[in-house]
Amino acid sequence: MKILVASPIDSDALDQLRTRHDVVVAFGAPEEELRRLAVDREAIVFRSGVSISSEVLAAATDLRLLVRAGSGLDNLDLEQVRRRGIELRRVPGPGAQAVAELTFGLMLSLARGITLGDRLLHQGHWAKSELVGYNLTGKTLGIVGLGSIGSRVAALGSAWGMRPVGCVHTPSPTRAAEFAAKGIELTDLDNVLAAADFLTIHVPLGAETRGMIGAAELSRVKPGAFLVNVARGGVVDEAALLHELRPGGRIRGAGLDVHVNEGEGKVSPLAGLPNVVLTPHIGAATVDAQREIGQEVVAIVDGTGPTREGSVMGQAAAERA
Ligand code: MLT
Repeated sequence: MKILVASPIDSDALDQLRTRHDVVVAFGAPEEELRRLAVDREAIVFRSGVSISSEVLAAATDLRLLVRAGSGLDNLDLEQVRRRGIELRRVPGPGAQAVAELTFGLMLSLARGITLGDRLLHQGHWAKSELVGYNLTGKTLGIVGLGSIGSRVAALGSAWGMRPVGCVHTPSPTRAAEFAAKGIELTDLDNVLAAADFLTIHVPLGAETRGMIGAAELSRVKPGAFLVNVARGGVVDEAALLHELRPGGRIRGAGLDVHVNEGEGKVSPLAGLPNVVLTPHIGAATVDAQREIGQEVVAIVDGTGPTREGSVMGQAAAERA
């Protein structure tokens, strides 16, 4: 198969693809280059950080398979994919644990001032008396989006002695009972905002979720809460968050792995605030997760992976999780 690999994937997986297929590699290439390279490709493998736009897809006239080596579909023209009947496969599972673990990393960094203490100590400042933090144990963990990642965050929270409460796009008494059996209280967004000491965001970016956590929502957050976003930058309004993070605002601190503008040289409007921890969209970036994702990508391309029904999940379905 003629494949364009448009994002970095596990090197063993890439080697395997190269032994059996005609592979062109262009990690994070600009759209114009992707358009040129896509012309004769039958498959494109991609992650976040590239735009598989309508123009790129239109140029790829032979395209019959898209493999998202991860979860989000916000960088893909889904309408054209559906219209042309191009097969779309996602590999959302392996990254979920890695993202859930980073959520805890950011929560701990905020609650205990780990990143700030490190930064200050590198400058020779012994900030012990300024860095009296908070325990996670005993706190309410508010989870916006109890899908694959959010549910894992809830399980980690329970193990840590936190009280997980969360919301989903389509609640029902059955789902509430299922979550209750796992010690998770299913409620609505307003209750999650009001109850959470730690508020974590785990919804995909789409028409319904863009700006979902804006000024109005942030004004209902429990004063002194910490916010962690490992989903997509566009879900949280960065200007409104900046307002609430300043002295007198409701949010004590924010940990952000995702940003409205991402990539080399892009500076977050929240950069420089002492109560903000920023990471460069590394949620799924563990050797373990990427190795597993890489093997699934190879199996999908080789036609030896799980059935289409078993692994295809459109953005709309993902949003409903
Ligand atoms: C994902 O959606 O899977 C994550 O954002 C990871 C990535 O694509 O780099």
